[in-house]
Amino acid sequence: MPLDLPASPPTAVAPDPAALAVTEALTARLSADIQARAGWIPFEHWMQRVLYEPGLGYYSGSLRKFGAEGDFTTAPELSPLFAACLARQVSQWFAQCAPVVVEFGAGSGVLAAGLIEALHALGTPVQRYAIVEVSASLRERQRETLASLPAGLAACVQWLDCLPERIDGVVLGNELLDAMPVCLFESEGAQVREVGVALDASGRFEWRAQPASSSLQEAVSVLQPLFRGAQRGGVDRYRSEIGFQAQAWVRTVGQVLVRGAMLLLDYGFPAREYYHPQRAQGTLMAHRRHRAHPDVLVDPGLQDVTAHVDFSAVAQAGASVGLDLLGYTSQARFLINGGILEVMAPLAQDAARTIAGVRQLGAVQTLLSEAEMGELFKVIAMGRGLPDEACGFVRGDRRGAL
Ligand SMILES: C[S@@+](CC[C@H](N)C(=O)[O-])C[C@H]1O[C@@H](n2cnc3c(N)ncnc32)[C@H](O)[C@@H]1O
Repeated sequence: MPLDLPASPPTAVAPDPAALAVTEALTARLSADIQARAGWIPFEHWMQRVLYEPGLGYYSGSLRKFGAEGDFTTAPELSPLFAACLARQVSQWFAQCAPVVVEFGAGSGVLAAGLIEALHALGTPVQRYAIVEVSASLRERQRETLASLPAGLAACVQWLDCLPERIDGVVLGNELLDAMPVCLFESEGAQVREVGVALDASGRFEWRAQPASSSLQEAVSVLQPLFRGAQRGGVDRYRSEIGFQAQAWVRTVGQVLVRGAMLLLDYGFPAREYYHPQRAQGTLMAHRRHRAHPDVLVDPGLQDVTAHVDFSAVAQAGASVGLDLLGYTSQARFLINGGILEVMAPLAQDAARTIAGVRQLGAVQTLLSEAEMGELFKVIAMGRGLPDEACGFVRGDRRGAL
């Protein structure tokens, strides 16, 4: 989602009455919640509500999020070649598990549509494509997108209201984990605090920290050796996040994955880089109108709030429920292993002749470039009952970095 846009101050939002009504209603609910809980709520709770409060949260509300008129553009929205490359990996796994995909957080549905078509073209059609989506408005959007598939292909799609009891197939999540609420902590000397949200004298939201629970202190103490150098480097207070919900999600879904793979793509790093002494302000960001900025407390419900993913923690969560780590690499390397350079060759010819061809090539450049999505975005695959030879990781596998 952050196409490496420079961090910039929040831009003024055009006073669209519908958007104003949303943020006013959500602000009133959050303020009442803070008052009811002795003046403070944990940031994790705040993030849950600004993103998923029924009807009002950023994802649960009906404002446009994806694409040029929205707030950010994800990889499948940029180019159909993204789905085409993922399809090669999924197709390989279909030889060893059921031809089923369970996609979590399918956004506009464009990845689902692209994958279904590409898998059909590869001769390994999906038997069932199940979508688990927490946002009712995005479900509608997915329905519209998938309705454009030929009827024979669209028939395999279904929406699930809850997690299946067992999954034999491929679990997929693109930019899913970054949208899960995180716990915010600060470490200063021997003290560990949990950061949350309170109200200032004029009723505006402000940051406030409280002593951390013993379980949070324990979790931070495991990470402390990674960022200890920050204090030697003159940083008094180190602030960062822990994605407990993302880890719990991996464990829960990993447990029901009886055979098959879990493929997760997102922006983030291994723990050593995530909790680097120099990353003393963490990775929390708001995204709005294609600008990234750090002021996540403004205009609840009108901007996306995200944190990067700690892929070491994701791998550990998978291992704790018996999943094998099948691969970890950059998005660029995964797509190149998936044949993006060969698939784009005809586009290069087109680019010499048409504007659409130039645009397509530009999108591929964004997906692969180290300065854009190619390096910041990573791909991790974990699985059960599959051989350790996933084609998307055949070159440039970085499992050792986790
Ligand atoms: C940043 S968007 C990415 C959308 C899409 N995958 C894409 O790449 O364009 C995150 C998506 O995850 C969904 N989501 C967040 N938590 C979820 C969960 N626990 N289960 C299913 N979907 C979830 C959100 O509603 C949203 O659709």
